[in-house]
Amino acid sequence: MTFSKILATGAYLPEKILTNQDLTQYFDTSDEWIRTRTGIEQRHIAAKDQSSTDLAYLAALDALESANLNARELDLIIVATSTAEHHFPSNASQLQHRLGCRNIAAFDIQAVCSGFVYALNIADNFIRAKQAKRVLVVGAELFSNVLDWSDRGTAILFGDGAGACILEASSTPGIHGSVLHADGEQKELLWIPNGIGSPACQRQTRSPHIHMQGREVFKVAVRTLANLVNELLESCQISIEDIDFLVPHQANLRIIKSTAEHLKLPMEKVIVTVNKHANTSAASVPLALDYAIKNKIIKRGDNLILEAFGGGFTWGGSIITY
Ligand code: ACO
Repeated sequence: MTFSKILATGAYLPEKILTNQDLTQYFDTSDEWIRTRTGIEQRHIAAKDQSSTDLAYLAALDALESANLNARELDLIIVATSTAEHHFPSNASQLQHRLGCRNIAAFDIQAVCSGFVYALNIADNFIRAKQAKRVLVVGAELFSNVLDWSDRGTAILFGDGAGACILEASSTPGIHGSVLHADGEQKELLWIPNGIGSPACQRQTRSPHIHMQGREVFKVAVRTLANLVNELLESCQISIEDIDFLVPHQANLRIIKSTAEHLKLPMEKVIVTVNKHANTSAASVPLALDYAIKNKIIKRGDNLILEAFGGGFTWGGSIITY
């Protein structure tokens, strides 16, 4: 049987750091309020001339270097993003060109903050189906472009960055299993309404910014993630005692703590980067994974739960032996 294994990870975070204190110049807030409610201390913000493809490219280079792999050895590129550089072509096709790959398949997927776990599951299926041996999966976001910098309810939460992962075919797992879900019923709780494909009569109300009912999103996220981790453990027939680390989507430390408490997992077994990165949407899980691997917190053979929840709503995760 063929499984997929993580060969290497990579990351890129823009140079510019915006602290909570820096945000007080835009609206009435405080470092203390943001830290207490979210756990966030700072976020990275892309330079004016950087695109989400640039962020993806730099994270991909880092992953290729860590894997000691030439880009020509890749069989497929998937980029998870909801802040693509162009409406089309995809960031993934731009990456294919910039990395100097063969004419391999390359496409973007959009599942907001769950984008990376969706993309990882798709990559895993390509490998299991023997359609690819090595897949580059990237989560790349430039959320600073879609924030209303006068809205203290949303602007405090997000940051820019990209994380990457190279999956390779293996005779042992690897990815034990994944679970993906979506429910579009409550789209207005977290959205950027009226995109380029909206009806002409609605386009005049097109908004370039995120709109969110934070308190409601918080409640749904906590409830949904608790159910998701149970479902994952059950579907992979793995007990929580066998899990070494939880690598959660980094949206809010209180949401992360609540999932850890539900699993009765001590916080030493939970990877937290939300304090330094804020919520980087589809980039958050691969950035957290890369941080933990590069800092030798996660080691070869460790069993991990990856999970995410985001706009849509979408949610999902995987259980992986690194
Ligand atoms: N600074 C100071 N005060 C603020 C700020 C701020 N940045 N933002 C809101 N407030 C005020 C509000 O105006 C309100 O004041 P009022 O009581 O006088 O009306 C008060 O603080 C409470 O506002 P709430 O929105 O109810 O605050 P809450 O405790 O829910 O925290 C937060 C808000 C941090 C957004 C929280 O709801 C949250 O994290 N929700 C999850 C959202 C999320 O993570 N979304 C990301 C995408 S989904 C995902 O990735 C999981």
